[in-house]
Amino acid sequence: MHLVILFLFFFPSTVTRKPDTSENLKMIVINGNPVYSPGVVPGSRGDWTQCLEECRTTWNCALVTQTATGCDFLLLNQVKSITPSDSGPKVAFKMNLVDQCPSGSPPLSGNPVSKVIESNGIDFFETEVTSDSDSKLIFNYTVFKCLKDFPENPVLRGEYPIRVVYPLTSKFLPGEEFFMKGKIRSTFNGSFSISFFSAANGNYPLFIKVINGWRSTPYTSSAWDNGIELSTWYNTTYRYPVTIEGYPNPFNLSDAFEIRVNSSDTQVFVYLNGTTKLIFDLEPRFPLETTDQFIINDSGYPHEKISDYYFGWTGECWWEPME
Ligand SMILES: *[C@@H]1O[C@H](CO)[C@@H](O)[C@H](O)[C@H]1NC(C)=O
Ligand SMILES: *[C@@H]1O[C@H](CO)[C@@H](O)[C@H](O)[C@H]1NC(C)=O
Ligand SMILES: *[C@@H]1O[C@H](CO)[C@@H](O)[C@H](O)[C@H]1NC(C)=O
Ligand SMILES: *[C@@H]1O[C@H](CO)[C@@H](O)[C@H](O)[C@H]1NC(C)=O
Ligand SMILES: *[C@@H]1O[C@H](CO)[C@@H](O)[C@H](O)[C@H]1NC(C)=O
Ligand SMILES: *[C@@H]1O[C@H](CO)[C@@H](O)[C@H](O)[C@H]1NC(C)=O
Ligand SMILES: *[C@@H]1O[C@H](CO)[C@@H](O)[C@H](O)[C@H]1NC(C)=O
Repeated sequence: MHLVILFLFFFPSTVTRKPDTSENLKMIVINGNPVYSPGVVPGSRGDWTQCLEECRTTWNCALVTQTATGCDFLLLNQVKSITPSDSGPKVAFKMNLVDQCPSGSPPLSGNPVSKVIESNGIDFFETEVTSDSDSKLIFNYTVFKCLKDFPENPVLRGEYPIRVVYPLTSKFLPGEEFFMKGKIRSTFNGSFSISFFSAANGNYPLFIKVINGWRSTPYTSSAWDNGIELSTWYNTTYRYPVTIEGYPNPFNLSDAFEIRVNSSDTQVFVYLNGTTKLIFDLEPRFPLETTDQFIINDSGYPHEKISDYYFGWTGECWWEPME
């Protein structure tokens, strides 16, 4: 698990945030012998035609096999492969086709033979069928997972010697959550920052600065020493933020902290240790969903220090083998 998370951090996966559910599913019927996973007892259904339709419209149906009385009904992960054989029973599985017949010569060659993504309404599951050199059809099942919260054993980002840039591979939309934990530095006069930066537009839809010391620049009287500033910036080379709001900082030196950020279309909500909620109006010109990078310690000043920190978000997603 450690390795997986580490990998994801340095090379964010390029999968789309929420794959589409196929709308053009067809049942492909061939003759062959399916190989089931060990211990699987197929469900059965009464009528072959209904069986085909039920499988086509059931998100977790992998395959149906014709029997004397109807069909055997197999779910995702219950079928390993099909060995095509003219003397075998009729078996059927899903393909994603608009109107044409399967391409390839013979039709079920080509890799993948079929790739279908379906959802139970919460998670996404992909069934990929490939054909090996003996024309055997191999079924592979993967599930699309996203971080929902801190991983059980987060790999701490540590005291990075530089600013940390984390590119987003999908949009930070309402419903998404950013989470970070760490430890405030032990010596006075420091701060650290979390940027929601839009590299594409050169602005900061959200800039969070946690200050344990004197604020370095008195932008406005609403900013605080020992405070937390939420602001938006056109571009940091401009001396002043576009909007800024100051709040008391509940964290003291050496304190462990937890910060979560989520949003509506017009406001951002920053939760401190799950107890304090800061509400900040987004700048309409800088929608939060244009964020394409999180940056920790953007300025890279030596006083921008925190330790033992971890951050992640709900858009950190990957495919993994289905269990
Ligand atoms: C099928 O899944 C297994 C285990 O996850 C993997 O080793 C194999 O490469 C996959 N095959 C294909 C064709 O994707
Ligand atoms: C933000 O997170 C809080 C705490 O988990 C939750 O109660 C709230 O519904 C979330 N708001 C949005 C807009 O997602
Ligand atoms: C804190 O930093 C400010 C600005 O850099 C400086 O003026 C001040 O003397 C420092 N205070 C302490 C106690 O280090
Ligand atoms: C920020 O503004 C400076 C000065 O106008 C400009 O040179 C720079 O390209 C801008 N940066 C971005 C990311 O737009
Ligand atoms: C913060 O910590 C300092 C010493 O580290 C202590 O003197 C001070 O009382 C603490 N403040 C609060 C509000 O707990
Ligand atoms: C915040 O939570 C951490 C534990 O996650 C705790 O150690 C720390 O004292 C808390 N800080 C405040 C100010 O409540
Ligand atoms: C920020 O950058 C400074 C200087 O490069 C470094 O000393 C500090 O540890 C960094 N802090 C974080 C949180 O990355």
